[in-house]
This record gives sequence, C-alpha cells and structure tokens, in this order.
Amino acid sequence: MVKSKTLFICQNCGASYPKWTGKCDNCGEWNTLVEQAPVSSGKSAVSKSASSGRVLSPQTMQSISIEETAKRMTTGYSDLDAVLGGGILPGGVMLMAGQPGIGKSTLLLQVASEVGKTQPVLYASGEESASQVKLRAERLGANTREHLHFIASTSADDIAATIRSGAYTFVIIDSIQTLSLDEITSAPGTVSQITNSSNVIIRAAKEAGAAVVLVGHVTKEGSIAGPKVLEHLVDVVLQFEGDRYGGFKVVRAVKNRFGSTNEAAIFEMYEQGLRVVENPSAALLAERQNADGSVVMATLEGTRPLLVEIQALVNPTSFGYPKRTASGFDLNRLNLLIAVLERRTKLNLSDKDIYINVVGGLRLADPAADLAICMAIASAAAGKRLSDELVVFGEVGLGGEIRSVHSSDRRIAEAKKLGFTQAIAPKSAQKDSFIKGVGDLRQALIDYLQ
Ligand code: TYD
Ligand code: MG
Repeated sequence: MVKSKTLFICQNCGASYPKWTGKCDNCGEWNTLVEQAPVSSGKSAVSKSASSGRVLSPQTMQSISIEETAKRMTTGYSDLDAVLGGGILPGGVMLMAGQPGIGKSTLLLQVASEVGKTQPVLYASGEESASQVKLRAERLGANTREHLHFIASTSADDIAATIRSGAYTFVIIDSIQTLSLDEITSAPGTVSQITNSSNVIIRAAKEAGAAVVLVGHVTKEGSIAGPKVLEHLVDVVLQFEGDRYGGFKVVRAVKNRFGSTNEAAIFEMYEQGLRVVENPSAALLAERQNADGSVVMATLEGTRPLLVEIQALVNPTSFGYPKRTASGFDLNRLNLLIAVLERRTKLNLSDKDIYINVVGGLRLADPAADLAICMAIASAAAGKRLSDELVVFGEVGLGGEIRSVHSSDRRIAEAKKLGFTQAIAPKSAQKDSFIKGVGDLRQALIDYLQ
C-alpha cells in the first residue's frame, strides 16, 4: 500500500516538498511553505468525483441581462478616471503599486478628499499616525471633509470587519505590507500575511460593495513586493512610476478588469500635493537647447502622444572597456542599437563611451524610441546638430531597417501642435510632406547628418 504523506506547498510558486524548509528552493521566497493534507490516493478520488457532482444549467450568452451598472465615482482627475476605465467602480479592488516616496499616499489622500465630498470614505493607515496624516491632509486641503474618516490600524481582521459594516463606500488601505491577521504567526509583510490579509479584505469589500484601494510597495527590481498572486486577486493593478526626486510621475493600469490598460495619467508633485500636467510635451521641451546629440521624439504615454527630448553624449573611452549608460531607457536595448549602428552604418563606436538620457524622468519602453536613440548617438558622435524643426520616431530592426510603429497619426498631430515642421518616420507613415519616410538607418543618417 502506498503511504499517503502530507505535503508542503509553496504559496508563491506552487512547488511541493515532502519536508518543511524555511526557503523555497524553486522561487527563492522565504517562509512560504504551508502544510497541506494529502489528497486521498489518486484513483479512488478520481472515480468518486466522476460519479458525483450535479449537472449545471448554463444560460445562453444572449439571455444574460446586464445589471444596472453601479455608478462609478470620480477621482477628481479625469485622466485618472480614464486609467480606471471611467472612475472608481463600487465593489472593485485596486492595487496601487509604486516605490516608497513616489507619492502614493499623497495621491490617494487627494482622491479620498474628492470622493469624500459626497461619499463616506475610510482612510486606514498602518504606516502613519493620525496626526501625521492630518498634517498632510491640511497641506492638501483635505481636512475639512466631514465624510472622510481616518483609522490607524494594522489588523486586517479589524479593517475587514469595518468594511463589512457597510458604513463606507470607498476604503484606502495604506499599505498592504503593514497588515497582519491574528491567526498567522509570520511577521507583517511576509508572503502569507500579505496574501491572507488581502483575501480577507477583498472578500469584505465584495460583500459590502465597497471600493477598496490597497497600497503596495514595490521592490528595487520594480515588482510588487510579496506574492505575484496579489496581482491575480485584485481587479485593477495601478503602477505609479517616475522619479522620486521631481520630474513627471505616471500612473497607468497594468491590469484592469473594468477597462483598457492603455491610458495613463501624468502628475507632478508640488507643495500642495500632486497636480495633473496639462501640456506635458510643452513642459518637457521648455528647457531644450538644441545641441548635438539632442533629438525630439514623438512617443505615446498610454494613448496620449508626448514629445520628449532624448540626449546622447559620446566621448572617447580613456582606457579599457567603453562605458554605456542609459537613464530612462533599457540598457540592453541601447547595446543592441549600438551594435546595429556599428554594423549597418560606417559609425565606429567601439572606442567611445556612450551616455543616454531621457529628459523629464520618463522611462521609454516604446519601440519607436529606437530611431531617435540612434539619431541622437550619431548626432553626438559626428558633432552635428539636427534641425530644430524635426521630430523622430520609428523602430529599428537588426538589419538597420526602419519599421513601422502604431499610432503614427497621433504622434504627428502632437508634433504639428507644438510647431514642428518635419518628422523622420517609417516609410509606412508617410502621408503628406510633413513626414520624411526613411527605409533604413544608413539613409537616415546620410540624409540628416551630412
Ligand atoms: P508620499 O505620498 O508619502 O509617498 P509614498 O506614500 O508613495 O511613499 O510622499 C512622497 C513625497 O512627496 C514625500 O517625500 C514628500 C513629498 N510631498 C510633497 O512634495 N508635497 C506634498 O504636498 C506632499 C504631501 C508630499
Ligand atoms: Mg505612503
């Protein structure tokens, strides 16, 4: 007879072990193994479930009636509403993830203050005391809302019970890493505490029909601290990105069950809290000096077009190995583009240090940045300026070909709006004389840098 044994299952990745260990060898997380009762041995269980269970009666898709969709609440920022898919949906659970110090608490207090004009709102903080939050609320002008309630608590059970009481329609929990459940012995912030606390809160939120925002800190690598499963539990995952020390801060949805994920809201931090940036392109280009190595690129932040300056500096390497750094751009992609430039054009960069900077604290993940980066490097290497009137976008392939990118029309419209008269772009985007379509990288450099 086969002896049935208990198994220990990692709650983060699902790996199983016959014995308990502190660290999961598979995913490297600590304290994630949970004992699980053995499933009674294979065959009998399968044959039992094959004969039990009842027949479900599915409906036709056609016959399903849509419930009167609950009214969404506005956050007070139309851009943020768009990111959420039209406002805060009652009963929805959102995760707001970002680095410490980026402005999560500030933004949420501002949103709480707006929603608190009409709805009962609870701000639960495990990080700051009541007087600290009051000070901040005073600065943000949020201290006079009578519907805005505050509680300092780290108990997930207590907060869940408060949500279940149904007294609040919007609840903010700052942060999920500080919460703990009594029956779990591990420290707050550990995987099991985070998962179980979130589960309790989410269930309470769905029961009471309250919208809940969980604040989550991210690790240095940029992933949400704690288990990946947290992303699966919630309805919306908002990512708060940007530079901690000034510059633009961008909120975008990386997951949204109630809307699209290609919207973004751009904020800037002031003394009185976060403010929406009205015309980001103009703000980003305000201090531009056209030097060699400077290129204006038309990118998209969500569905919104944005003009950003990309700067390159190319210096002779003083000794040894050439140095390549990029701020706001992926270093691997930069190395790839340098390799393409060397192979497909006559530029020799093997003995040059190359530095790339994206102005304004933005991070470009848009493939259309490729051509602008290449032009900036070539312009810096040759010491030749590009025309003031030029914007650039296009993806660069390994053969040096310029590939088409999406939403060319929107990029062009933004460039025209800000007074640019020419665009270097993929051939496919060429519709009028504004766009100079280029087929490959070599041609682009010959046409504009010689
Ligand atoms: P905070 O919202 O506490 O960040 P997080 O909750 O993401 O950790 O605050 C971010 C920074 O913003 C903080 O260092 C101070 C600054 N700040 C302002 O410049 N103006 C303000 O009005 C507020 C409230 C904060
Ligand atoms: Mg905070």
